[in-house]
Amino acid sequence: MILVTGGAGFIGANFILDWLASSDEPVVNLDKLTYAGNLENLARLQNDPRHVFAQGDICDRALVDSLLATHQPRAIVHFAAESHVDRSIHCPGEFIRTNVEGTFTLLEAARAHWSALPADARTAFRFHHVSTDEVYGSLTPTAAPFDEAHLYAPNSPYSASKAASDHLARAWFHTYGLPVTTSNCSNNYGPFHFPEKLIPLIILNALAGKPLPIYGDGLQVRDWLYVGDHCAAIRRILTAGLPGETYNVGGWNEMTNLDIVGKVCALLDAARPRADGLSYSAQITHVTDRPGHDRRYAIDARKIERELGWRPAETFESGIAKTVRWYLEHAEWVKHVQSGAYRDWVSRQYGGRGEQTTRKEH
Ligand code: NAD
Ligand code: TYD
Repeated sequence: MILVTGGAGFIGANFILDWLASSDEPVVNLDKLTYAGNLENLARLQNDPRHVFAQGDICDRALVDSLLATHQPRAIVHFAAESHVDRSIHCPGEFIRTNVEGTFTLLEAARAHWSALPADARTAFRFHHVSTDEVYGSLTPTAAPFDEAHLYAPNSPYSASKAASDHLARAWFHTYGLPVTTSNCSNNYGPFHFPEKLIPLIILNALAGKPLPIYGDGLQVRDWLYVGDHCAAIRRILTAGLPGETYNVGGWNEMTNLDIVGKVCALLDAARPRADGLSYSAQITHVTDRPGHDRRYAIDARKIERELGWRPAETFESGIAKTVRWYLEHAEWVKHVQSGAYRDWVSRQYGGRGEQTTRKEH
């Protein structure tokens, strides 16, 4: 069994779905169900005993201890975080609590659990910490992409809190020998992406006839990776990654925000043309830039390719086409997220029913 934190969020849910599609090893999913956590993402596992859901906070040491004692996972995959840069600018406190204190709590609980294991289980145990390329800060247009030795220079409260958590994970390996691996990944996109992030926001605003907000000049560059490729990279690291190592994960897909929005609009123009025959790109509206907006992120993903044989399977063209199709085909999911009805899913799903096949604890 493995313990996943944040498994009701965008990447965590994709990870659990992909994991159980390719393995029968059960997953305990510890998630607080913040605004970003949505159990509807895991609706496909409704009758699946291999998924055990525990609603709770990673800062709750007693809860984490009890999950570790009960389920004896051989690995922890730590996704849970506050993850939206814009929210971190308005409300940084929650980012420090979850991303820094939460990671500290998990590392301490993992250390206590791991220390008491028999020797072979101690050697096999893994704590995988999921992080971001944003910890490295912003690149100039001609600078080489971030490799694993790049200086940490986080610029937003989000990236600073993630950088702090990376340092804790590193220290728990160096000081205590806890078998920690870390991945720093570029921007993900794909199914179940919460529509406050660029790509789903653009798809849904376009279809709703709303403005497509571009911060500043829209020439900021991100390196986009299809979420399924990120999940495959994490599975590979769990299998073959070395304790104490960090792996940068990226899609080799550097694009400006305007390019991204243009491609999304072109796909929607073909799939769901506007009634007036104009392109959805007519809805593009430049708005005030994000404070401290990083200009460019780019990942050098050669280490994980060389050492673990991982490369992204999707091109940006194939991944974005799948993603746009997914949003067009999942109008109910979108409606529930936009109306907030997804938050009632837990009571609709579990209320008044006994033991669940997707079991819920706490
Ligand atoms: P998300 O915001 O969609 O999901 C986060 C999940 O964590 C939610 O289900 C939420 O309920 C849960 N959570 C938040 N606080 C919690 C707490 N205190 N205790 C328990 N659960 C809590 O985020 P995401 O986009 O899926 O990102 C997952 C991880 O991947 C994060 O660590 C993020 O930093 C990292 N990452 C994300 C991207 C990206 O493009 N989205 C890229 C690189 C790395
Ligand atoms: P986002 O999806 O928030 O991810 P991150 O900030 O972690 O990279 O934003 C991706 C890029 O898109 C980023 O440069 C900010 C920009 N952006 C807009 O231009 N308009 C928007 O409405 C949003 C949400 C983001």
